[in-house]
Amino acid sequence: MTEAIDESVNFAGIVLRNPVLTASGTFGYGTEFAPFLDLEKIGGFVAKSLTLEPRFGNPPPRIAETPAGMLNAISIENVGVRAFLEEKLPALPDGVVVIASAFGTEPSVYAELAARVSEHPRISGIEINASCPHVKAGGIEFGQDPKLLGELVREVRRATTRPLLVKLSPNVTHIADMARVCEAEGADGISLINAVQAMEVDVETRRPVLSNILGGLSGPAIRPIALRMVWQVAQAVEIPICGVGGIMNAEDAIKFMLCGATAVQVGTANYLDPSSAQRIAVGISEYARSHGFKRVADLTGALETPRE
Ligand SMILES: Cc1cc2nc3c(=O)[nH]c(=O)nc-3n(C[C@H](O)[C@H](O)[C@H](O)COP(=O)(O)O)c2cc1C
Repeated sequence: MTEAIDESVNFAGIVLRNPVLTASGTFGYGTEFAPFLDLEKIGGFVAKSLTLEPRFGNPPPRIAETPAGMLNAISIENVGVRAFLEEKLPALPDGVVVIASAFGTEPSVYAELAARVSEHPRISGIEINASCPHVKAGGIEFGQDPKLLGELVREVRRATTRPLLVKLSPNVTHIADMARVCEAEGADGISLINAVQAMEVDVETRRPVLSNILGGLSGPAIRPIALRMVWQVAQAVEIPICGVGGIMNAEDAIKFMLCGATAVQVGTANYLDPSSAQRIAVGISEYARSHGFKRVADLTGALETPRE
């Protein structure tokens, strides 16, 4: 008989049945994926970033395929915080862990969103989207300037006692410095990375492929960048990390955990196989068992590095 293994992890005070979450913007409001996987068999999901009012995104084309990845400039199209709390959340099965994602143009807007979602008992944590690569105001402005990022985290921290995660942008020179700012201002965890700012061109039309010109690159093409950043941040801060970027299978997810991630988020893979997150959770557990780990949590930081 194979010995049972403890699959749960504690990520920033949120107890997850396994370390696999789905990434904001790639898993709708959860219910859309219920026909494809058992929502209660994944660690949880980060809902689409919310704004105070409903918001339409960019006009099409706003998604394009690239070698080993995808380019998007959806631009935070969402139902708004009221419809999310009153209509989307109640439609989910009771056992699903939900993390809300907040987006705004001012720290006070993020703080108001955090306060509103915190009142709802179904919300386990709040992720600040300080990193959207293709919205002109907000998002990436905060994620690229350590001073603005610090002010943002401080203001949201004052607005909620719930577990607070900050999602960092890879579009910076020193990722560890950004993570240190978040830790100093009271964040409970860091998610990284958001999409890498990118563009693509159609030579026949001589136009950018996206109406917005710039977009965010995601998928396997960015995984080694994300892995490097997770590893660097793990050396720099004590707060836990959620690794995101190009995770397509269990092996990819395990790499992030070995480099220091407590949990992971699956994004672009949901477009190829909407059941990926569940499949990845099973694969992580099998790897841990077959490699002599008693708990999946023990994979975190178990990377063997060459001696100096
Ligand atoms: C279509 C699409 C929409 C996204 N929307 C959001 C969003 O609303 N908020 C956010 O924080 N990240 C958003 N992201 C970024 C993902 O959550 C994730 O950080 C990124 O895609 C890297 O992970 P991946 O390579 O596994 O997709 C979006 C990504 C895609 C592909």
